[in-house]
Amino acid sequence: MHRVDVASAQGDYAVLVGEGLLDRLPSILADEGLAAPSVVVSNETVGPLYGRRLAAALACPPPLELADGEEYKRWPAVETTCSHWLGRGVHRSSSVLAVGGGVVTDTVGFAAAVYQRGIRWLAVPTSLLAMVDAAVGGKTGVNLEQGKNLVGAFWPPRLVAVDVGTLATLEERELRAGLVELVKAAWIGDHDLLALVPRRVARYADLSPAGWCAAVVGAVRVKAEVVAADEREAGRRKALNLGHTLGHALEAATGYTHLLHGEAVAWGTVAVARLAAQRGLLSQAAAARLEGVLRSLGPLPGIDGVSPERVLDHLARDKKLDDQGVAWVLPTDDGVVLDQRVGAEEARRVLLELQTG
Ligand code: NAD
Ligand code: GLY
Repeated sequence: MHRVDVASAQGDYAVLVGEGLLDRLPSILADEGLAAPSVVVSNETVGPLYGRRLAAALACPPPLELADGEEYKRWPAVETTCSHWLGRGVHRSSSVLAVGGGVVTDTVGFAAAVYQRGIRWLAVPTSLLAMVDAAVGGKTGVNLEQGKNLVGAFWPPRLVAVDVGTLATLEERELRAGLVELVKAAWIGDHDLLALVPRRVARYADLSPAGWCAAVVGAVRVKAEVVAADEREAGRRKALNLGHTLGHALEAATGYTHLLHGEAVAWGTVAVARLAAQRGLLSQAAAARLEGVLRSLGPLPGIDGVSPERVLDHLARDKKLDDQGVAWVLPTDDGVVLDQRVGAEEARRVLLELQTG
């Protein structure tokens, strides 16, 4: 089992990564000095696969199984979760366990942040994207009609337990979407990790469990370093938004149904690679490498039919908007540069460039 410690002003915590961890979770919690959770929350897909089994092993009641989908990462899910906890007698000294992808960990983490002004939570991320990114770092929240993650809190979990074996049931498209966030972590903090990014992976079995562990651990180490330096995104943490500015706008402009989060980030990253190269911030060779590794993951759903006006509209309402406009992250040959201003016309031009191939 691998261990990455994450420093947090709200209490340091460990990210444990291995294969077969789920079956050992009760003893792992005991070894970590953590009380068993009172309640498990999952969703209607992951609950039957893993959540119910974990709840039984932890002597918890059957899990709350939320509706599955980004479109349900909204206030009603938070209310359902908090009401469920109240009904189960969850109190301020209790802890709760989230089992699922990033939608579940973001929603449950946020519910834990606001339930009785904050209770402890533990995360068992089961999608690759949640393992390498969403469950680590303490950002929690839900979407509003107007955009992604517009309501949230910094509320880190007390433990993240990653069992890479759960990736065996994840759909290929979701696996690829998770790999995009792995590429992001590699570009930001550890270019050697790019060599670990598996290309054209179709199934969990295409890579060894040790290979998956190494990839997840590498990405988590990068995220842990970034979050330790800047937990509340005053500076360095903004790097983790590489590809996300246009990515979020594309997701919102297509109603969260056409593109998975990782796919939208892939398009957003290709766009910023081109912008950075056009501005002379990124060499043509590095731009080709970044775009090449993303394209080698497999096909992305097209964005030809997406209205540029809608995308620009969402960009104009980005969370990172300040008096000078939206702050973008652009890639450089050895990392990223923060707080770059990209005007509407420049954004429109690069979007049209992507749309026309
Ligand atoms: P998701 O939670 O929707 O999971 C993707 C799909 O895979 C879902 O249908 C889910 O039920 C299913 N699934 C998950 N694990 C499975 C398994 N082992 N076997 C079979 N099916 C499984 O999406 P995601 O890609 O995990 O996460 C995306 C979300 O994470 C977005 O809302 C995004 O904003 C958020 N996010 C948050 C952070 C953060 O720092 N908090 C970082 C990145 C992304
Ligand atoms: N995924 C962005 C962050 O954690 O800051």
